[in-house]
Amino acid sequence: MVKHIVFGASSFLVVVQLALFVYNFETAEWKTYQSAYYQKLAQVTGDPEIAKTSLNVTQIWDKTLDRADRCTTCHAGVNNPAFEDEAQPYKTHPHFKNDGFISKHPFEKFGCTICHEGNGRAVTVSKTHGVVKHLDRQLLSGPYVQAACTKCHYELFSRDVYWPEADVLMKGKQLAYELGCGACHAIRQFGTTPTVAPEISNLGSKTELAFSLVHDYSHIESEDHVTRVWEWEHFKDPIKIVPGNPDALDPKDRTPPTIMPNWDLTDDEATALTVFVLSLRDPQVENIPRAFLPKVPSHEGFLQYR
Ligand code: HEC
Ligand code: HEC
Ligand code: HEC
Ligand code: HEC
Repeated sequence: MVKHIVFGASSFLVVVQLALFVYNFETAEWKTYQSAYYQKLAQVTGDPEIAKTSLNVTQIWDKTLDRADRCTTCHAGVNNPAFEDEAQPYKTHPHFKNDGFISKHPFEKFGCTICHEGNGRAVTVSKTHGVVKHLDRQLLSGPYVQAACTKCHYELFSRDVYWPEADVLMKGKQLAYELGCGACHAIRQFGTTPTVAPEISNLGSKTELAFSLVHDYSHIESEDHVTRVWEWEHFKDPIKIVPGNPDALDPKDRTPPTIMPNWDLTDDEATALTVFVLSLRDPQVENIPRAFLPKVPSHEGFLQYR
């Protein structure tokens, strides 16, 4: 009996120690970044007191949106125009300075993950960046962030609209019109109905789990098994990724290779099309509060789906 109690108590202690170790380790990481930020800020402003600012997890939270974004705990300089030449995570956000288009989406209201997806609550690099295991919405960075603009700017799907702020998405949309994706796929945003291929109107709102359950990663070259990688490699060579099983012994198991054409796309074209298909959103899933939508008539086009 005593033995059991001793054993139980010591295993409990081990668990507590482990938890403390992990906690301290994670805390140290953001603290290092934040204190470096204040030291830089002290230099820029010439006020040494700033370097002594107490360190805290900072969070952007808006009642209507109800997401807690802690990215600014490390990315403390995003809204500081003086930090344009700093390295990440201190750098001024692109297109923020001089009333750039990002400033039309005030960080204190919009937060970060509405555009970047990812894990807003996490405060470590490994849980926010790169490919994070079991995370339903991976961080969007570089051109992929443009796949989020259509959550609110529905007019971007019109053929005659071109926004330089979302150049990669515009290129993908243009290609999609030119290559006639809507001839096979139902794309609600283009007003096409399905013929010989699955509907893709809501592809960008699928979770990684939902996507992985119905997509085969066994022919994907990259080790990063996430939606955007599958789509990219599929655009580069559809038959390689979906070869079917035409030679199965049992005729019942035989499936033909995909009929999706291989257009010999360049890497940039495949990226543009990937951004485009990820921009195809289900408004009901995204559920963006009205207060966050621009006041333009084109929204009637997607409010009907709510
Ligand atoms: C623990 C500190 C920390 C947190 C929290 C953090 N970042 Fe970062 N971030 C970094 C560092 C360091 C870099 C630069 C090094 C790198 O690329 O990993 C970076 C780079 C980036 C980049 C550019 C390069 C890339 O990896 O795509 C983006 C975009 C980004 N962060 C967005 C975010 C968003 C959005 C959040 C919140 C969901 C966030 N970060 C939370 C530290 C952090
Ligand atoms: C309105 C959408 C939007 C919001 C909100 C937003 N971002 Fe971004 N972010 C972008 C876009 C678009 C880019 C890519 C810009 C480019 O590469 O030109 C980007 C790029 C970045 C980068 C990489 C910068 C670089 O130099 O490569 C970081 C880091 C970043 N964002 C952090 C954040 C953080 C932190 C927040 C919240 C405080 C945030 N973003 C909010 C759209 C947004
Ligand atoms: C959560 C919704 C939301 C997302 C996501 C979003 N925006 Fe916006 N955007 C807005 C709102 C709201 C405005 C302000 C419109 C106004 O002032 O009437 C705006 C304004 C703009 C403007 C200024 C246009 C004008 O008419 O004033 C541009 C350009 C813009 N956004 C580009 C982008 C790009 C590019 C992305 C993706 C990286 C993006 N937005 C993502 C909601 C959003
Ligand atoms: C000739 C008909 C045809 C055309 C044209 C076509 N596709 Fe496809 N596509 C298919 C078929 C069939 C599938 C299902 C098998 C597969 O995954 O390859 C598919 C699969 C897809 C998928 C994966 C969907 C999912 O949920 O599994 C995406 C995304 C996609 N196509 C996008 C596009 C885009 C973007 C274009 C235009 C550049 C396009 N397709 C043109 C026939 C077509």
